[in-house]
Formats: sequence, C-alpha cells, structure tokens
Amino acid sequence: MKCILMNKNTPVVELELDDDTATILKVMQTYELDFLPVGIDTGNGSPSKKALNEWWFGRSIPASRSGIRAALEQLGIEHSKQLLLKCYGLSLSDQYWMKPVDSKLEWKNINFFENDFSDDVGNILFGQTAPQNIDLMSPCNTSDGWLKKKWKILDAKRCLIKAGSNPFMQEPINEVFGTRLHQRLGCNNYVPYKVLLENGIPYSVCENFINTNTELVNAVSINRSMKKRSQFSSYEHFINACDRLGIPGMKEFVDYMLVFDYLMANTDRHFGNFGAIRNVETLEWIGPAPIFDSGTSLWHDKLTRAINPFSEMETKPFYSSVSKQMELVSDFSWIPFEELKHLKDDIREIFVPTEFMDEERIEVLAEAVNSRVEELQCMKKKL
Ligand SMILES: Nc1ncnc2c1ncn2[C@@H]1O[C@H](COP(=O)(O)OP(=O)(O)OP(=O)(O)O)[C@@H](O)[C@H]1O
Ligand SMILES: [Mg+2]
Repeated sequence: MKCILMNKNTPVVELELDDDTATILKVMQTYELDFLPVGIDTGNGSPSKKALNEWWFGRSIPASRSGIRAALEQLGIEHSKQLLLKCYGLSLSDQYWMKPVDSKLEWKNINFFENDFSDDVGNILFGQTAPQNIDLMSPCNTSDGWLKKKWKILDAKRCLIKAGSNPFMQEPINEVFGTRLHQRLGCNNYVPYKVLLENGIPYSVCENFINTNTELVNAVSINRSMKKRSQFSSYEHFINACDRLGIPGMKEFVDYMLVFDYLMANTDRHFGNFGAIRNVETLEWIGPAPIFDSGTSLWHDKLTRAINPFSEMETKPFYSSVSKQMELVSDFSWIPFEELKHLKDDIREIFVPTEFMDEERIEVLAEAVNSRVEELQCMKKKL
C-alpha cells in the first residue's frame, strides 16, 4: 500500500509499504523533509529505506515487553509490528502517522490526544481475554518499554499506567518516591507519578506530558542526528548534538539527572529514557523533556540482604561505572542537603508494607538512600 508519512498535518514522504508486514519497501516521493523524525539522515537528498524502517519498527511494542506473547495470541497477530498500521502508526508521544494515499483522513479526526480510543489492546496487554470484536485503534500499539503498560483516558486525561515486576513490584512505588525526591531537590521539570492499586497490585500512573503541538525526541534520536567522532566521549557527543540542533538547557539538565539518578540508584537511564521536546508546527526546540521512567531503581530486583548502597552498580547512559559517571557532574552547589534529610521519613511514608514488601525491606531502603545522600555530600567536598 502507498502511504504518506505525516507529521501532524505536514506531509513528509510518500512510501510504499508491504500490506502484510508493514515494512517500508520504497521511498516514492519527498515533501517537507525538515519534518522528518530527528535522526533520520537525508545525506543523499532523501531518507534511506533502512533508516525509515528502523524508526518505523522502533514504534512497535518491543519483543521484550512482559506478557507480549500471550497478548499477541489473544489478538490473533503474529508480530507486534502488524499492530502499527491498525492505528495508522499514531502515538501519544509524537504526531507522526501514515496516511493511506487514497484516503481523505485528517489528523484532527483520528489523533489520540483529542479523540477517544479503545481500551481493548491495553486490557489484552494487561492479561484480559479479548472481546468478540476487538477494536485495534489504540495508542498502546505504539508504546515502548519492557514493563506491562497501557494508555487510558482517566478524567479526560491521557494517562500511562505501568506495572512493576516480580517479586517486589517496586517500580511503581519507586516512581512515587522519585516524584518526592524531585520536589525535595527543587526540580520543576519532572513527570509526577501516583500509585493505583488494582486487586492489591500496585501500578504507576502518570499524565501525558506531550500535547497536540509537541513531540518527545529521545536521546537515541538526538545522538543519531550527528555522526559520532571517536575523539568524543558519549557524553560530549550527546551535548554536541544538542548544541547543533539548538536544544536549550541540556547541560544543566543532565547535571541534575545524574544527581537524581545517583540518589535513586537508577540502573536504567538508557538513551531511550530521556530526551527533548520539539514543537511539531514550528520545529522549535522547547528544552529537555521532563524526567520520566525512574522506577528501575532502589535495588528493585535485589533481595533485601543484597542491598548495599556502596556497591559499584552498573550505571547508564554515559558510563557503566557510577564513579566515572558522577565525575561528569560539574556543580554540586545547588543540592539542598537540608531537604534531603527528610528522605528517610519519605521512604517510610511512601513504601507501606504489602504482600510484596515487608517492614525490614522498607527500613533497609531508607538507610540505603540516606547513605547515598551522605556519599553525595562527600563527592561535593572532594570537588
Ligand atoms: N508521561 C508520558 N507522556 C508521553 N510519553 C511517555 C510518557 N511516559 C512514557 N512515555 C513514552 O513511553 C515510553 C515507555 O515508557 P517508560 O519508559 O515509562 O516504560 P518502561 O517500560 O519503564 O521503559 P524501559 O524499557 O526503559 O524500562 C517512553 O520511552 C516514552 O517514549
Ligand atoms: Mg523507558
């Protein structure tokens, strides 16, 4: 089938796609190439099929998603890529979509920001049995990440509901603690998370931080927008790419994010878990995206007796060693250490004993975070 890749109302390129696999077979015609997704090279005057397919299939639910096999079976679909065209590739994190050339579809009538969408796919991803006639028009078809998740309209707001992982189901509560930590640190660019209990199981809930005029561009795409030269570290390359694109405020943001992630003992700040926001009408960069996805932290997958605040744990995104990565922080003077004295009590308040977590674990977490605060104070003194 022939489709035009659209960015909201702007035609970008006309493509030939395979009906069965949704693979992009050919670039037919180019329109407004400035409106292409960031990181797709147009060196030869037109984007390559390879780069477009990588981006397009990168929108599908990853094969690593918890429970995806069973969900696809319920949906009667072999591969999550086949869900892409069922919702025209629309998402709630940007404004790209595939418009069949022979259709009169308009963005305003189909986008998920302003139009209701079916809960069917989200419910199936959460393990429910499929109804008779499944409505596949859902932003869940294009959601990323490995944790079980679904988009749902709650009080007219688009919300992302995300599960935790066995055995402690800690990620959703970690997100709430992260929210408190942002407040203690005086940050104003973060996604607030709450917890929702369903049948005793905790889920995190956050509102969409993208609107009809914006898109989230992750650091993977920002990195791809420029060829990395070997003399530059991955940190330097990322900052250079932000400078070249004209994204304001990224260096200060990264400083903050590294300190926040250190206190959270976050092990999963990969390049897909932060980025920047761009206006899709003017292509103007607004700045760093608010911090999201901080739940893979606080020793969520470690037994209580294995929690050690001082052990060298693997870090991301710039260095795998915590000490090397923290050397990138150039300024510790802004950290309100007085406020951070309350974190121990914050943990005791936010983490309540459940069937997944006992008092002992909560106390060990409180002590461990407090030790990270003291360690951070030592780093400040050494600088
Ligand atoms: N509040 C939000 N508003 C808009 N888009 C969001 C929001 N939260 C997450 N996203 C998008 O959804 C993707 C998946 O969400 P998230 O990173 O929270 O899931 P995850 O399963 O924890 O991911 P990972 O595999 O990195 O652990 C994000 O990479 C981002 O593109
Ligand atoms: Mg993520």
